[in-house]
Amino acid sequence: MTLTRYRLIQALADGRFHSGEVLARNLGISRAAVWKHLQGLREKLEVDIQAVSGRGYRIAHPLELLEQGEIMAALSETVRDRIPDFVLHHQIDSTNSWLLEESTRQAPSGTVCLAEQQTAGRGRRGRSWISPFGSNVYLSILWRYRLAPVQLSGLSLAAGLAVVRALEQLGIQGIGLKWPNDVLADGCKLAGLLLEVVGEADGPSRVVVGVGVNVRMSAQQGAGIDQPWTDLSSMSGARTCSRNRLAALLIEHLVAMLNAFETQGLAPLLEEWNRYDLLRGQTVKLSTGDRSIEGTHLGVDSQGALLLAQGDRTRAYHAGEVSLRSDA
Ligand code: BTN
Repeated sequence: MTLTRYRLIQALADGRFHSGEVLARNLGISRAAVWKHLQGLREKLEVDIQAVSGRGYRIAHPLELLEQGEIMAALSETVRDRIPDFVLHHQIDSTNSWLLEESTRQAPSGTVCLAEQQTAGRGRRGRSWISPFGSNVYLSILWRYRLAPVQLSGLSLAAGLAVVRALEQLGIQGIGLKWPNDVLADGCKLAGLLLEVVGEADGPSRVVVGVGVNVRMSAQQGAGIDQPWTDLSSMSGARTCSRNRLAALLIEHLVAMLNAFETQGLAPLLEEWNRYDLLRGQTVKLSTGDRSIEGTHLGVDSQGALLLAQGDRTRAYHAGEVSLRSDA
């Protein structure tokens, strides 16, 4: 996105009317150019911009744009000290892809990347992650470990718990986890995580932890999502949640967790994870690429594997998609 377009969105973010003349003057462009850029924003960002003759332009819902300074100021000193680099993109293909690429070029551990919009946001299992402009949170963090990639298997669960902690601190209630790390509210997906690990067999390794939280998304924007979903703006008690505060809390809890994981692993978090586990004790179906297994969900082990009981046998599974047997 060009700087002019971003500045236009910034000017309109308050949701009030702004005359084309004032917008043009402040941005140093012609009124015709303002109109043209607004057309572009409507189409590319799917932002609902209304034009009323005599009053000017406004966006249908005020936007709270992300502010790097505000987010950094809200972090604890300990966490801030662990973030050597912080990049906020107005538009990027995927914060995970960007950070993975940067990680091949010496980007330091603790680099944080946020975006207002992703044009090719990625979800787990090859899905895409719908990422409209200025409305949700798309965050990735790079962390480097001396550990081997196999030792990071529990990280995916620990990261899910960090997201739950952040949401709870924001005052959001009634959320739970579905193995390995879907964050659900009332059976609908509220947030998702994508962890991408690269490394040598015996270490070191690096991981990009990507988190997407639905904050406000219109039915139209979410129409392409192939599972029940929700957003914070439709949950009671969370209507007025600040994206900057949410981003700061996510970074705070994720960085603290990523740091502790090197020495502690998942074990100290298991009891807390189990408390949020939505499917524990239920009969579930685990789908892995080509097969599906049914069993009783007994919880998770210290490596983050799902424990399924089938008859008198219990086995640990490391990958797959779990669902209640009733939706089979
Ligand atoms: C899922 O399928 O549940 C995982 C969704 C992960 C989405 C986030 S948004 C920020 C980061 N960048 C991506 O492309 N994906 C992750």
